[in-house]
Amino acid sequence: MLLAFELSGEHSTLPKSEAIACLESLKADFRIHLSLDSCLVIDLKNNADTIIEGLSKRLAMTHHIIKVLGIDESGEKDILELVNSAPLDFEGTYSIRVRRIKEYSRINTESMEKQLGGIFYRKGFHADLEKPMIQFRVLLTNGKSIFGYIAASIDRSAYEARKPHYRPFFYPGVLMPRVARALVNIAKPKEYMLDPFCGTGGILIEAGLLGIKVIGGDVQRKLLLGARTNLDYYDVNYSLMYQDACRLALCNDSMDAVVTDPPYGRSAAIKAESIEHLLANSLKEIFRVLKKGRAVFVSERDIKELALEADFRILEVHEQRVHKSLTRRICVLEK
Ligand SMILES: C[S@@+](CC[C@H](N)C(=O)[O-])C[C@H]1O[C@@H](n2cnc3c(N)ncnc32)[C@H](O)[C@@H]1O
Repeated sequence: MLLAFELSGEHSTLPKSEAIACLESLKADFRIHLSLDSCLVIDLKNNADTIIEGLSKRLAMTHHIIKVLGIDESGEKDILELVNSAPLDFEGTYSIRVRRIKEYSRINTESMEKQLGGIFYRKGFHADLEKPMIQFRVLLTNGKSIFGYIAASIDRSAYEARKPHYRPFFYPGVLMPRVARALVNIAKPKEYMLDPFCGTGGILIEAGLLGIKVIGGDVQRKLLLGARTNLDYYDVNYSLMYQDACRLALCNDSMDAVVTDPPYGRSAAIKAESIEHLLANSLKEIFRVLKKGRAVFVSERDIKELALEADFRILEVHEQRVHKSLTRRICVLEK
């Protein structure tokens, strides 16, 4: 079965990486069919309903998961032919939306929706734009049109509701929940996940809500107390420790995954000789406590050399521009 992930446009590479990591965590038997701008199409071999349900509970940077009924070129005639010849077999009302991704198509989506509505009407189906029982979609990207219906949508409002300033304890300079969740998914935690620079616990919350047991460390007591308040509020299974990320009180090979956002060079909250010292030594400690698995390390600096010195393999580097003078580098490392 072909499944399309309608990816969020908030980042060019993270949403795809998150979707693939989640499929791997769910042990899905799949291969990539097409990798397009803001849309990933996979061929999923079995257990589709269970996998789709698992994905919809985890993903942060996907809008919809679509069961694909057909793929064609993206000219007007191609789209009409694609929908006309697709196997339409459903009961109840429907809606259809045509979405142009970026500038990949010049098609007038409203007029196309009307024409496609005509095809459905001639086949005896009834539209209901308010409360349709099935929602069809045509995505236009990279010269392709992808037609299918929504199998699951991601509840993005839940991430909005967890934004840092809505939590019981707030302190500035934290990742947004959607980014934090995507990083957790990319790290593929199984049972235990560590954030050795946990601050107010933003990353831990996102992992904890997935049922992962989370362990956090920090050197600012007031932030650890704040993290405790936040983690209790979201009913997460956690342990917090007052500890230096360069000297972790954890056994070798004890963590399934690490996701962390250490302080940036300019932050006053650095407890170390220097930022270089902090990054190099914490990477070595993370490598020591990690089982075979992934660490996702966020930094303003390029830490590739330091990660290699700590013995990590570098799987991916994603850049995220936060504002004019801050670009985050998200390094996906593997032990
Ligand atoms: C960018 S903040 C992390 C924010 C966190 N993700 C959150 O959700 O609040 C970096 C954190 O690293 C902590 N920190 C600085 N030096 C440290 C060290 N040597 N060991 C552990 N934590 C340290 C700071 O106290 C700060 O809370």
